[in-house]
Parts: sequence; structure tokens; C-alpha cells
Amino acid sequence: MRFDLITIFPEFFRGPFEFGIIRRAVERRLIKIGIHDLRDFTHDKHQMVDDRPFGGGDGMVLKPEPLFRAIEWIRDNAKAKKTATVFVTPQGRRFDQQMAQRFAELDQMILLCGRYEGIDQRVIDNLVTDEVSIGDYVLSGGELPAMVLVDAVVRLLPDALGSETSAVNESFTAGLLDFPHYTRPAEYRGYQVPEVLQNGNHKQIAVWRRQKSIEKTLSARPDLIETADLSKEDRLIIHKLREQEKEKPQS
Ligand code: 6GU
Repeated sequence: MRFDLITIFPEFFRGPFEFGIIRRAVERRLIKIGIHDLRDFTHDKHQMVDDRPFGGGDGMVLKPEPLFRAIEWIRDNAKAKKTATVFVTPQGRRFDQQMAQRFAELDQMILLCGRYEGIDQRVIDNLVTDEVSIGDYVLSGGELPAMVLVDAVVRLLPDALGSETSAVNESFTAGLLDFPHYTRPAEYRGYQVPEVLQNGNHKQIAVWRRQKSIEKTLSARPDLIETADLSKEDRLIIHKLREQEKEKPQS
């Protein structure tokens, strides 16, 4: 799979893609990452990428010509079959694991990193296939969100994670938060690792972890419970936890 990022700050990406899962995916030729400087697609002496908004108002807007040329050049060179052109923007649909899974089926993602007030709407209307936001807060540019998207998608590609981990087994795949993890020592400063994790009863451990996942989700992200993939046993656990909650004295 190819990732092509269009930015006015190409240097921004040098570090983050050179570590861990992404670095290994590049080295093993699972992915290719192209970082494209929008200024390289200007034709004027001052390499102007932005201009004042029609109709007035604050801030600058990225001009259409360099963006059209950059996207068309990238598409023509890669000749990928399944490709998306994603504009990362707070005005987009909110990114989630399901969206990451859909992107992971593509051959190419072209990511436009905005800056300033925005980009010329004609780019969005005619070339962009998806507008994506990473959450309800405002960042100063699309570079960090683009990295977030690349990371979330790369780790879902077959063989990207080592044999030690699997994205399929992850708690979030079922729409619940993860359970707590412990490693040695079994006791540290008097703090104990839960007994059940030490007794080697795998059935009990699985039940305990599922219960902890549900508890965590109920307290931190109750909204996820509505859409989670839950079994009869899960619903019983939730019912019991809610009963316990009612019995507690009000704090
Ligand atoms: Cl995709 N871009 C910017 N600038 N801010 C954001 C965002 C994107 N997602 C959340 N905040």
C-alpha cells in the first residue's frame, strides 16, 4: 500500500515515520510513503501556495493550482487501482477504527494536509473523496492528523504487526476498551497483580478480562456500550455492574 502526503512542511514527517511498526513496514516493503512539498507544484517565482479569501475575512486559503497538479501527478505516477484522496480537516467525518479498516483495503491513500483557514473548495469538490477529522478539537494543521491516519491504517495491514501481536484480537475491534495489563514482578511496593492472572486458568482469565473491559468501557466511554458487539454473558455482566452501582451510597 502507498501513502502520499501533500504538505507545506515536509520536514514535519521525517521523525515519526522512522520508528516502530511504520519503519518496519517500510523496510519490509509492505508500504511506501511519499512526502510531497506543495511548493514543488507551484509555477511562480515566489512559490506561492496560498492567497487571500474571496469575499474577505481572516486567514489565507491554499490555492487550487498547486493542489490539483500535486494530486494529479501523484495519481498518474502510482497508477493504483483502489485509491482515496483524503483531506484532513476539522470539518470532516470523525475518524474511527471502522474507517481505518476500510482505508486498509486500499492500494493508495493520498492525504492533503491543510494549513491556514482552509483549501480552495474546488479541490474538495473535484478531487477529494473523503474529508476526515480526528476529533472535536482544533489543531493548527493537518500534518499531525495525517500521521494519526497513516499509523492507524498501517498497523491493520496484513503482516505489519509482528507475530507477537494481532490487530484482530484487540479489544477495540469489538468496540470495547482494553482490559488492564500486568507484568513481573507479581508484587511491587506492596501492590499486587490480581490473583486470577497468576493461576493459569485460561477460562477464568478470559472471563476476568472481558469483565474488566466492560467495567472500563462503562466508566470511561459509556457511549461505546450502545454500539459494542456484546454477548448474552456480556449483557449479564453489565446488568450486574449497574445493579452494584445502584446499591452504592451516593458519593
Ligand atoms: Cl484533521 N485537522 C485540524 N487542523 N484539526 C483537527 C483535525 C484535523 N481533526 C481534529 N482537529
